Amino acid sequence: PLRLDIKRKLTARSDRVKSVDLHPTEPWMLASLYNGKYIKLTEAWFWYFLVFFSDDMLIKLWDWDKKWSCSQVLGVLLFCFVFVFVFPGKVWQLGSSSPNFTLEGHEKGVNCIDYYSGGDKPYLISGADDRLVKIWDYQNKTCVQTLEGHAQNVSCVSFHPELPIIITGSEDGTVRIWHSSTYRLESTLNYGMERVWCVASLRGSNNVALGYDEGSIIVKLGREEPAMSMDANGKIIWAKHSEVQQANLKAMGDAEIKDGERLPLAVKDMGSCEIYPQTIQHNPNGRFVVVCGDGEYIIYTAMALRNKSFGSAQEFVWAHDSSEYAIRESNSLVKIFKNFKEKKSFKPDFGAEGIYGGFLLGVRSVNGLAFYDWENTELIRRIEIQPKHIFWSDSGELVCIATEESFFILKYLSEKVAAAQETHEGVTEDGIEDAFEVLGEIQEIVKTGLWVGDCFIYTSSVNRLNYYVGGEIVTIAHLDRTMYLLGYIPKDNRLYLGDKELNIVSYSLLVSVLEYQTAVMRRDFSMADKVLPTIPKEQRTRVAHFLEKQGFKQQALAVSTDPEHRFELALQLGELKIAYQLAVEAESEQKWKQLAELAISKCQFGLAQECLHHAQDYGGLLLLATASGNANMVNKLAEGAEKDGKNNVAFMSYFLQGK
Ligand SMILES: *[C@@H]1O[C@H](CO)[C@@H](O)[C@H](O)[C@H]1NC(C)=O
Ligand SMILES: *[C@@H]1O[C@H](CO)[C@@H](O)[C@H](O)[C@H]1NC(C)=O
Ligand SMILES: *[C@@H]1O[C@H](CO)[C@@H](O)[C@H](O)[C@H]1NC(C)=O
Ligand SMILES: *[C@@H]1O[C@H](CO)[C@@H](O)[C@H](O)[C@H]1NC(C)=O
Repeated sequence: PLRLDIKRKLTARSDRVKSVDLHPTEPWMLASLYNGKYIKLTEAWFWYFLVFFSDDMLIKLWDWDKKWSCSQVLGVLLFCFVFVFVFPGKVWQLGSSSPNFTLEGHEKGVNCIDYYSGGDKPYLISGADDRLVKIWDYQNKTCVQTLEGHAQNVSCVSFHPELPIIITGSEDGTVRIWHSSTYRLESTLNYGMERVWCVASLRGSNNVALGYDEGSIIVKLGREEPAMSMDANGKIIWAKHSEVQQANLKAMGDAEIKDGERLPLAVKDMGSCEIYPQTIQHNPNGRFVVVCGDGEYIIYTAMALRNKSFGSAQEFVWAHDSSEYAIRESNSLVKIFKNFKEKKSFKPDFGAEGIYGGFLLGVRSVNGLAFYDWENTELIRRIEIQPKHIFWSDSGELVCIATEESFFILKYLSEKVAAAQETHEGVTEDGIEDAFEVLGEIQEIVKTGLWVGDCFIYTSSVNRLNYYVGGEIVTIAHLDRTMYLLGYIPKDNRLYLGDKELNIVSYSLLVSVLEYQTAVMRRDFSMADKVLPTIPKEQRTRVAHFLEKQGFKQQALAVSTDPEHRFELALQLGELKIAYQLAVEAESEQKWKQLAELAISKCQFGLAQECLHHAQDYGGLLLLATASGNANMVNKLAEGAEKDGKNNVAFMSYFLQGK
């Protein structure tokens, strides 16, 4: 089966809708109502004002800009209009008054027809009051297939412009979705809006509009994510319908690239795939690519797209080891393959609703998530969580488990696992208790993600491109549409993303910064010191803030180039000399005050006096002079304060001296 996700996006109640269409660029659905009115729907609201369809049976072109005056009568379209209702189905050449040919086969009136727009088959489809849907080859004029299932007159039929499906609607109130190659019924939708009258799909979109007796509905079909994958060298493979194409980042040469700009990639056709690809995924070493869809998978060589292995599977995942993979054959059976040979097949205890590749084999069931050892399928740990995605870091030390609401970063403690496997201590029915340590939970929804060192880069549900490192979130960019992460190429210092329309964009992200942060997270300061000189000056302060947040203030002070930040750090670290130098450079009263406070707390009264003096803090000076019993200082203060018109301090200073 195609396993198309189908989600209802919008429901609008109204009079009978006999025709719908989707706007190619705006989020609008256009619906014509049986009572002769036209409504236009935006995401959640609609207005309702325009008389459109005329009673003279002509289709007219109305001009939006000229206050809706009728600008042209499309008389020729009358034929098409009549054609829809003639029986049996006839095909006309535009401008001709006699039909080219007639297709006979329906036993009752034909209500609707649609040409197949794919170009590879000379097909058209018809739906009739005999409750049947027929697919015709209009070149040899034969009926190729009859789709039976609707319980009433068929009112609309449509070949989807991209997905391999046929959508039919009927007066029985259902919309049926059929596979356009196997003609298998994939899905039956019944939204209880009475008779179905019309259906419209839009190229480049998952949205399908449906018109009913009682209103209209928009449903979203299929996966949101494009079938697209990139290897470590920047070779991108994607599927456009069933055609597999390749683009190579390297082929762009040294063209200057701006953040977020569409990359000018040359696309090479690699041939067509025997299944309709819903996902494409390179294996870790990039030599193979797996295509999954229609309940099947095919592994190809990434270079020439030669098939290497195939089989039936609901899902396919690669292991961390490039020669290994697992398939989920059904809701209870998982099989592990090594070097394209089946190594093990097992039935996870609570079933298998989904599988996840990487360092450990993840299996989702209604009860939660279970991680298994790829080697022996032994249970490592069961976790009560319903994951959407799981992302392992290359080292296998860190894993991100993303759910519908948030994501968790866990540390995998392989040494404790090895010890527990040896001694069997701390092993329960839920696996090894100490296998994981939770490092953090972030209330953000991850769409796509990948690890670079210990930094987890991801796109979020609000179209932000972020990365997580050591509990901190850094925003790289705000994206203007949904984008999917393809990979990071350290050599380019760039991160690559693709969208549904197969556009590729990139963002700069310095590998030196990521490496430095990774070294800090691993407490490997000799490595960090080695990387530091490669970090450009303008990035140093950002890195310093990161160090400070991780509690490494001394290192932060050494790295930061921002005087404000450095002064703050020097104060926190009690580095009087550095702070003094910065205060001298800044000539800021505020800094002198802060430094004076620190000097007093450190009993550096000479320094404190100087600072208070720079800060013109007479109150502070009076306190210092009297508390230290320094008569000379009190005297000097009295004179200075008097000169500056600080009369209270001047009075007090003279008074204390008996003057
Ligand atoms: C219909 O007839 C016209 C001319 O009569 C011809 O050019 C056209 O190819 C025909 N179309 C089909 C689908 O046979
Ligand atoms: C007409 O063409 C279709 C393929 O498009 C083929 O399956 C069918 O057998 C052909 N019928 C005749 C009568 O040639
Ligand atoms: C189906 O179409 C016939 C005309 O062919 C009509 O009489 C009948 O009422 C229609 N069925 C429904 C459920 O509207
Ligand atoms: C694999 O390739 C062989 C030979 O090219 C071909 O006969 C076969 O149909 C292919 N199978 C799949 C599932 O792609």
